[in-house]
Amino acid sequence: MRKIALILAAGDGKRLDRTHTPKPLVKVCETPIIVRLIDQMFELGIEDIFLVVGYEKEKLIQALKLHYVNQSQLKLHFVENDHWQEGIVSSVKQALVHIKHIFNQQSILLSMGDHIFEQNHIKEILDVSPELGHCHILVDGRIEAFDPTDIEQAVKIKKSGHLIENIGFQVPSFNALDAGLFSFYIDDWLDLIAQNSKAVTLPELLLPLCQDQKLSAVEMKNGQWHDIDTPIDLIHAEMTLRREKRIRSVNVPSPKHDLFGQYDFIAGKPELTQMLVGRGIFKDPSRIELIPSESASSPIFIFTDETVAPLYAIPLETKLKSYGYRTNLIVMKDGEESKSLNNYVKLTEKVLSLGVDEKSVFISVGGGVVCNVCGFIASTIYRGLDLVHLPTSLMAQCDAAISHKQAINGYLGKNMVGAYYSPRMVAVDVEALLTLDERLMKDGMAEVIKHALCKDEGYVDLLLKHQGDFIRDLDLLEEVIRRNVAHKCRLSKEDPKELSEGMVLQYGHTVGHPIEHLSGYSLYHGESVAIGMMVEVRVSRLLGVCGDDLVELHETLLRKFGLPVKVPKEISCADMLKTLRYNKRYLTEGTRMPLLSQAGQMWHVKGDYAIPVPTEVLIEAFEQSKEK
Ligand SMILES: NC(=O)c1ccc[n+]([C@@H]2O[C@H](COP(=O)([O-])OP(=O)(O)OC[C@H]3O[C@@H](n4cnc5c(N)ncnc54)[C@H](O)[C@@H]3O)[C@@H](O)[C@H]2O)c1
Repeated sequence: MRKIALILAAGDGKRLDRTHTPKPLVKVCETPIIVRLIDQMFELGIEDIFLVVGYEKEKLIQALKLHYVNQSQLKLHFVENDHWQEGIVSSVKQALVHIKHIFNQQSILLSMGDHIFEQNHIKEILDVSPELGHCHILVDGRIEAFDPTDIEQAVKIKKSGHLIENIGFQVPSFNALDAGLFSFYIDDWLDLIAQNSKAVTLPELLLPLCQDQKLSAVEMKNGQWHDIDTPIDLIHAEMTLRREKRIRSVNVPSPKHDLFGQYDFIAGKPELTQMLVGRGIFKDPSRIELIPSESASSPIFIFTDETVAPLYAIPLETKLKSYGYRTNLIVMKDGEESKSLNNYVKLTEKVLSLGVDEKSVFISVGGGVVCNVCGFIASTIYRGLDLVHLPTSLMAQCDAAISHKQAINGYLGKNMVGAYYSPRMVAVDVEALLTLDERLMKDGMAEVIKHALCKDEGYVDLLLKHQGDFIRDLDLLEEVIRRNVAHKCRLSKEDPKELSEGMVLQYGHTVGHPIEHLSGYSLYHGESVAIGMMVEVRVSRLLGVCGDDLVELHETLLRKFGLPVKVPKEISCADMLKTLRYNKRYLTEGTRMPLLSQAGQMWHVKGDYAIPVPTEVLIEAFEQSKEK
């Protein structure tokens, strides 16, 4: 007997809320939900598949016909149900009447069109043939593994052994959930529908079978299935499938650690970074303990760049010398090119040749570039020496210096070589901003806006309400720096490797870094992050996680502080996608990024803040953000 299947794919999937894409065509792990289901069925020997279509039916039919154009063995039969809004039973009825003309007395597999199963789930139900008059349902009895909100939406089942005693959305003391796969005889169900003409949902249709002991449960043994109803369900499925794909990519026997003697150690102790924010540090450096007493006679290294040297670093060195310290000034070229591997080698050799000891202190005086280069050199010479940051740009004062991430660039992308290494002290002198170029002041505001948007609605209001020119408004600047420092200190303490909530710091950077790199660094870091945030908020919008208002809020804030909001024409999406791969969160199978659900609120899926984003969504968000 031929194996046949029916897939219900007529609904509009409103809660998933994806523009331009009917739910069955939404991709999970790069494959449309419905294609995955059809492929799985075909692999199990089902060659006739009936699909009930309704909402956006032309789009769906066309896409599937095109996809399977070369697959002659598989027969897809489309059943159009223009009354799909009347409920699922109307779709089932229409399909079964249609199928009956082609196949007589025959059992059939029925699946929801928006579910994701593992292959063995479909096999489990196919392996048990129903008797005449009976129906089998695949059920999941692992209730404790589900979120209460998922359970609330699910069809519940009360079973005793294999017999199902009750089924419905409201079932007292249920012990399983309906997973959305059924097997039954076509005529049996047509009779059932005729007798039970008021039934709209499947549980309503099937309930009478419980009394006659004709409804049986096929217990799901293992694996995860997903009912893709909401953006959260979609991303959760994406996470599961990507994880599986990653694990499946190797075939390695299980390790046998018990064959070995085992010893452990934990090295080092947590390092404290002292953060100071105020004014007048460069006027009078003796106000802070830049150099601890035990380092008094050791070589001190002041790193800076050509612009900052005469403004702050040379005067600082002069003062330190006058106190009796043995100082060396290391001046690098301005700009991102100093964050190169070559420069790292050159400057490290220079420090080593000047003489350095284990009590030496490395002081960075400059923007993010100087902080990063000095920080990484300090972290590697003698496996780590004392580090102090005196940041002078808004970017560095708000973000780059308040960090234990010390990194330089690889040939293929930003911050690819580095270390987690805590400075002993970071001291911010807000007055240093008085000499900073206007474009760089705006640039620094990008990280300020990022923090506000991700963590604090009140902070967003403060920025929205600010009147006048912020560029030399030291009071506003001190306030935003204090807020940023406080946020960043908390995040660095709670999530130092940015695996959960600390992902906030990466907001706008997943797309921002490639943009910065592809612009040949003609766009500054903050400007690139600003554009990155615009793309990433559109990703949220397309996934249905936030509304248009959040996109507008991003644009308003970024424009207000003079930042760009469009991807430059010359940067192509293909190049961006290529560069994106050189991101540590890419994990071979696709990109992951932090996303927002509303102002001040990061989105997470079951505690995971690194949201896997389907490539098609990223492409669309990128194109929407492009300069015309
Ligand atoms: N480690 C992190 O967590 C982190 C976070 C954010 C940014 N960053 C990095 O920081 C870098 C960007 O930092 P940036 O924007 O400060 O760039 P930058 O260091 O290149 O400084 C920009 C320019 O401003 C000048 N400048 C700095 N302070 C000045 C002052 N007070 N007066 C006059 N001129 C001054 C510099 O000489 C330079 O020409 C990027 O490489 C980025 O990757 C790192």
